[in-house]
Parts: sequence; C-alpha cells; structure tokens
Amino acid sequence: MVHDVVVVIGVGGMGEAIARRQGPGRHVVLADFNAETLERVAAGLRGDGYEVTARTVDVADHASVAALADAAAALGPVTQVAHTAGLSPVQASVEAIVRVDLAGVAYSLAEFGRVVAPGGAGVVIASMAGTMALGRFPAEMEAALALTPAEELLALPFLQPGAVPDPGAAYGIAKRGNQVRVHAASLAWGARGARVNTVSPGIISTPMGQEELAGQSGAMMRAMVEASAMRRLGTPADIAAVVAFLLGPESSFVTGTDVLVDGGVVAALRAGALTLPSA
Ligand SMILES: NC(=O)c1ccc[n+]([C@@H]2O[C@H](COP(=O)([O-])OP(=O)(O)OC[C@H]3O[C@@H](n4cnc5c(N)ncnc54)[C@H](O)[C@@H]3O)[C@@H](O)[C@H]2O)c1
Repeated sequence: MVHDVVVVIGVGGMGEAIARRQGPGRHVVLADFNAETLERVAAGLRGDGYEVTARTVDVADHASVAALADAAAALGPVTQVAHTAGLSPVQASVEAIVRVDLAGVAYSLAEFGRVVAPGGAGVVIASMAGTMALGRFPAEMEAALALTPAEELLALPFLQPGAVPDPGAAYGIAKRGNQVRVHAASLAWGARGARVNTVSPGIISTPMGQEELAGQSGAMMRAMVEASAMRRLGTPADIAAVVAFLLGPESSFVTGTDVLVDGGVVAALRAGALTLPSA
C-alpha cells in the first residue's frame, strides 16, 4: 500500500521529534548530512514501528536536494515536508552558515515546491534570530533574500567574504532570509495547492541548543530565558507541536507566515525587560 510521504530534512533534536509526531501511518523519509545521526534515528524509528527511508543529503548542494525530492516523490504523494537542517554560530563559519542555513533552505523550497502534493504543506525551521533582525536590514536586502533565484543567492554582494562580520551575523541574515523567502515561496507552493510557513524557535534544548548554551553566547542566552515569560528552555516537543499544526488540516488557511515559538523571549526584549549588547 502506498502511504503519504512525510519528509524530514535534518534529523537532529527537532527533526527527530517532528518525525516521531508526524510519522505514524505515513512513509517517513529522513534526510541528514551526518550518516551516523541518520542511521541512529532511522533505526530508532524503525524499531518503534515506523515505515522509514533514510537518505543522506547535503542541503548546501542543490543537486543533492533535487535528488532527495525526486526520491521522496517516487515513494508516494509528498504531503508534508519539514526542513530542520542547519548549523549554528558556534558550529560553523560565516561561509558554511550562508551555504547551509540560507542557500540550503532556498534549494529545498524550490525542489519540494516542485514535487509537493496538492493539499500538502511545508515548514522551514528559521529562528527567533530572524525575528530579532526584523527592521534591521534594508528593504532591498530583504527583497533580494526573498526573490533572488536560488542559484544566484550566494553571489549577492552583502553575502561576500568580508561583508558579514561573524557567524552570529551570518545566522541572523540566514534566518531572516528564511522567513522572507518562505513568505515569497508561498505563492509558488499555492499554485500547486500547497502551503508553506516558517517556525522560529527560541532557545531549544537540542544538541545544537546545548552547544550554543555552552559557548560564548551562553550567558546572554540564559539571561534571555530568565527575562522571558515562560522562564524555561523550549523542548523539541514544543516545536513539533506547532509544526504539527502547520502541517495539518487545522491550519488550511495559514500560509506564507512565521510562527514565533520562543517562550516569550522576543516579547521580553521588545518590552525592555532585557537589552542585548548589539541591540
Ligand atoms: N536549538 C535551538 O536552540 C535553535 C533555536 C532556533 C533555531 N534553531 C534552528 O532549528 C533547526 C534545527 O536545529 P536543532 O536544534 O534540531 O539542531 P541539531 O543540531 O540537533 O540538528 C540539526 C541537524 O541538521 C543537520 N545538518 C547540518 N548541516 C546539514 C547539511 N548541510 N545537510 C543536511 N543536514 C545538515 C545536522 O547533521 C543535524 O542532524 C536549525 O535550523 C536551527 O538553526 C535551533
């Protein structure tokens, strides 16, 4: 029997939680750059009765993403796509963050926008870092991030070496870029009868979140959590719950938008409960 296909790109903390939540009754395609992570998560899900196909992908390689989209579509109707693959500032250089977090999402939107089934939906995991950048970039820069053809994105002058001071700045540009690009891509996805949105997490306890907390920005991140309304770290399950809503039938009128899931960190910053050094 052919089941609907749910594709989860990036199977770290959030990706695994999303796959577990969306997977029952569907064919789960898991994709990640890290073969070890991929096999571990795939084996865990198979052991729990999920129908799983695992594929390595490098989201920074357009051809690799195109091959993943084709392989997923060959398994059945691709009704749900969750793009969670990403690198954080402590993990990577400016160049790697731009290639993976910015261009990778553009390739995914283009290729899954080509194969997504009518009635289907996609979610890209952006970040509250993108929401914090709201209003900081010139309108022309946001338009370029939203609309430049995927193949030309990396040639944009403001992404060239030297133009981006550090990985944190690259991450903010990439994640704001994800938000505006998904807004724009909702038209192409809509032409296929499908929807696409971003979720912007705050500080979530995943391998990436823990690495960031242990790094240079850890103290500031803990201060953000303390100043926020919820005063706790988010869990992968908190993100998976919102992704489930956005991928499911209850959000059939929601597309081209962002849902901030940050426990109130951005609200606290805007209310002046905490001031960031760079703000
Ligand atoms: N954890 C947080 O606090 C937090 C906060 C805001 C946003 N985010 C974003 O959420 C998303 C998911 O993060 P997470 O916390 O689950 O992190 P994670 O590190 O647990 O998972 C990320 C996964 O992406 C994979 N990946 C990295 N580069 C790749 C590539 N080129 N191709 C394919 N896969 C690749 C990694 O191997 C890893 O399995 C990321 O985009 C991240 O930027 C995380």
